[in-house]
Amino acid sequence: MSNITDTPPKLVVEGLYKIFGKHPQQALQWVKEGMNKQELLDQKHHVLGLQDINLSIQPRSIEVIMGLSGSGKSTLIRHFNRLLEPTAGKILLDGEDILTFNQRQLREMRLHKIAMVFQKFALMPHLTIAENVQYGLKLRGSSLKEADLQERCTYWLERVGLKGMEQHYPRQLSGGMQQRVGLARALATDADILLMDEAFSALDPLIRTDMQDMLLSLQQELNKTIIFITHDLDEALRIGDSIAILRDGALIQQGNAQDILLNPVDAYVRRFVADVNRTRVLKVKTIMQGMNALPTDIDDSRPMTVKGSRSVEYLLNKTILQNPSAIWVVNNKGERIGYIDRAILANTIGRDEEADQDWEGLWAASA
Ligand SMILES: Nc1ncnc2c1ncn2[C@@H]1O[C@H](COP(=O)(O)OP(=O)(O)OP(=O)(O)O)[C@@H](O)[C@H]1O
Ligand SMILES: [Mg+2]
Repeated sequence: MSNITDTPPKLVVEGLYKIFGKHPQQALQWVKEGMNKQELLDQKHHVLGLQDINLSIQPRSIEVIMGLSGSGKSTLIRHFNRLLEPTAGKILLDGEDILTFNQRQLREMRLHKIAMVFQKFALMPHLTIAENVQYGLKLRGSSLKEADLQERCTYWLERVGLKGMEQHYPRQLSGGMQQRVGLARALATDADILLMDEAFSALDPLIRTDMQDMLLSLQQELNKTIIFITHDLDEALRIGDSIAILRDGALIQQGNAQDILLNPVDAYVRRFVADVNRTRVLKVKTIMQGMNALPTDIDDSRPMTVKGSRSVEYLLNKTILQNPSAIWVVNNKGERIGYIDRAILANTIGRDEEADQDWEGLWAASA
């Protein structure tokens, strides 16, 4: 799927660099002259946090940021609410350069435009759940009256499934419930952008899946722009409309789940996706042949149809059960829009063994 759209992006990052150390501008020159992260650290004792990031994030979408530990994920999103100042580059929010914002504009931005959900739920232990959510708003300088504040908090606590828990204290809640409070606190601000840094990573797998489901169902109606950091590729593929992969502070690939799985740009990305159950993620329509490129020898005596929006996993199960002579892809109206070649189907299932070799090569090269 292409990203070409008429909707202006919500957030645009242009040529963003962040270098930690005493003389970032000097270090920036060295980096521009070709010094890499490791050399900059070893020889010049500066840390290359981000390197020439160019990224465009669509409104009402979930953008996942992925990458190994230290690749720059948190550093990147801390620039979005200006917790960090870049060494170079631009950040446009709804077309406005946030680096030119004065104190009043910054306050406005943090109050109405961007809210953050943390990994460690960051709840105040001596405040009730309701007070914690309200506190989030008060801290941001909300001018809502007490009654309106309460009403809003009750509403959001209910939406995240915590109805009736308002007067409980954080210690009385499980990890998953505490994170729901964190989410309610962010949602109560009404911000159009949610930054979530490993927000679900500390949760048990089952609770984590529940939280993903809840986020996806809330998103269907809220249509926020969500920027979601995770280490977990399954999580990324499950919830991301787009996935951006960082390595050593550089953005090396941005695309949807299908793009990343089918066309990983290099060995690093290929290794990330090697263990994924690709049949569950890939859609039937991405592996079909168009109607204008059909093989000439189709045996249509026992045809089977499958919707293009189904997963390849579903297609496989159905194929094994029905053993059709031809597999047709149809749209929602039941019209044929493509054909599945069994050889292509077989190729999408296998594990990418080349990726393992690449990975060994990568380690050898970096050793
Ligand atoms: N305040 C700082 N001072 C110096 N170096 C920093 C600072 N903050 C981050 N870094 C460095 O910048 C790089 C990127 O760090 P960052 O925290 O963004 O990584 P991350 O991808 O979020 O990793 P993790 O998955 O472990 O959270 C790392 O090399 C880190 O050591
Ligand atoms: Mg981080």
